[in-house]
Amino acid sequence: MKYIQITFFNRVILFLFITLLFQSACSNNSEDSQTDDANERNHLKHTFKNDFLIGAAINDDQFNGIDTQAIDIILKEYSTITSENVMKSMYLHPARDIFFFDVSDKYVEFGERHDMHIIGHTLVWHSQLGEWMNQIKDSSEMATALSNHIHTIVDHYKGRIDSWDVVNEALNEDGSLRESVFYNAMGGSYLVHAFKMAEAADPEVELVYNDYNLWKPEKREGVIRLIKELRDNGARIDGVGMQAHWSLLGPTIEDIENSILAYAEHDVKVMFTELDVTTLPNPWDLEGAEVSQNFEGSPFMNPYPNGLPDSMQVKVAQRYEDIFSLFLKHQDKISRVTFWGVNDGQSWLNGWPIKGRTNYPLLFDRECKPKLAYDRVNNIKKAP
Ligand code: XIL
Repeated sequence: MKYIQITFFNRVILFLFITLLFQSACSNNSEDSQTDDANERNHLKHTFKNDFLIGAAINDDQFNGIDTQAIDIILKEYSTITSENVMKSMYLHPARDIFFFDVSDKYVEFGERHDMHIIGHTLVWHSQLGEWMNQIKDSSEMATALSNHIHTIVDHYKGRIDSWDVVNEALNEDGSLRESVFYNAMGGSYLVHAFKMAEAADPEVELVYNDYNLWKPEKREGVIRLIKELRDNGARIDGVGMQAHWSLLGPTIEDIENSILAYAEHDVKVMFTELDVTTLPNPWDLEGAEVSQNFEGSPFMNPYPNGLPDSMQVKVAQRYEDIFSLFLKHQDKISRVTFWGVNDGQSWLNGWPIKGRTNYPLLFDRECKPKLAYDRVNNIKKAP
């Protein structure tokens, strides 16, 4: 009896042992999948998933599936996309009665297919504007044209675009309103009109004012006046997009921080919508220089045609690390950070403000390889 009992006991032990073995095999599996998860987490969108959305502006070759290397980066690294060009007026609304959605539909479909946060850039901008709208002088004609423009486009993408840059670059450097074609026709009232039209067409969509140099104290004040003006007149604004076309030298972290704080105090989300860091001399920094194409071909203005020296790579990496440290410090106020382009080769900064230069402003190089700057940004939470 005793013998049988022991055998039975042994069987129980054996059963428990086998169960444990199985469990450990399963947990090995789940460890594997945890390792997979960990690898997955090692991309930017995972690194910053509790902080802000992170993304890039993308071009036709990318959302049409041609530039497969860049697509790989977009899908692995980013949670949000912006249309670099295809949603601008001159493409979407080239004549008063013609809207052309074929290409931008592909952009939105790409974002939907990959479950990304989709930005519409941009509804009202004096640049890359259909020539027909550029000719309008009369106030009510402009109001009607803008209503039709905004309503038709926002309605077309209702519920599919998450966030619209409603107005782009309406301010001068001193914070006053730019005398754009819209301003010349309607005065400052076009801004309230534009935000109201966008909201009416899609009440759920996020509404953003976007501009460059928003770290400048005078321009910052201009944005705050604009936020108040919109709200006093019954329009909604949800976010301020700081474009963030920056250099190695400026703006200072302090100026950027002061703008983040000032905008957040006025109850808008802060976004960095077009981040890049130029590595080339800027014509504006040259005493008495004309900002024109007369530097084209000048070796002085294009010092690194065959690659960026290591010492410069380190500077770019350090600048990005400083910038992202600031972003993390204020992650509660920042909802999105978007790079203006995917890799150095396709950055607009190779062609602007001087054509034909070789610039290195992003986190991925011309072969789509992550640069030192990428590592410093992606490892920022591990930094001592
Ligand atoms: C740029 C695009 O990157 C270029 O391809 C195009 O030739 C000109 O426009 N501010 C903006 C963006 O809001 O739309 C601009 O994009 C860069 C400056």
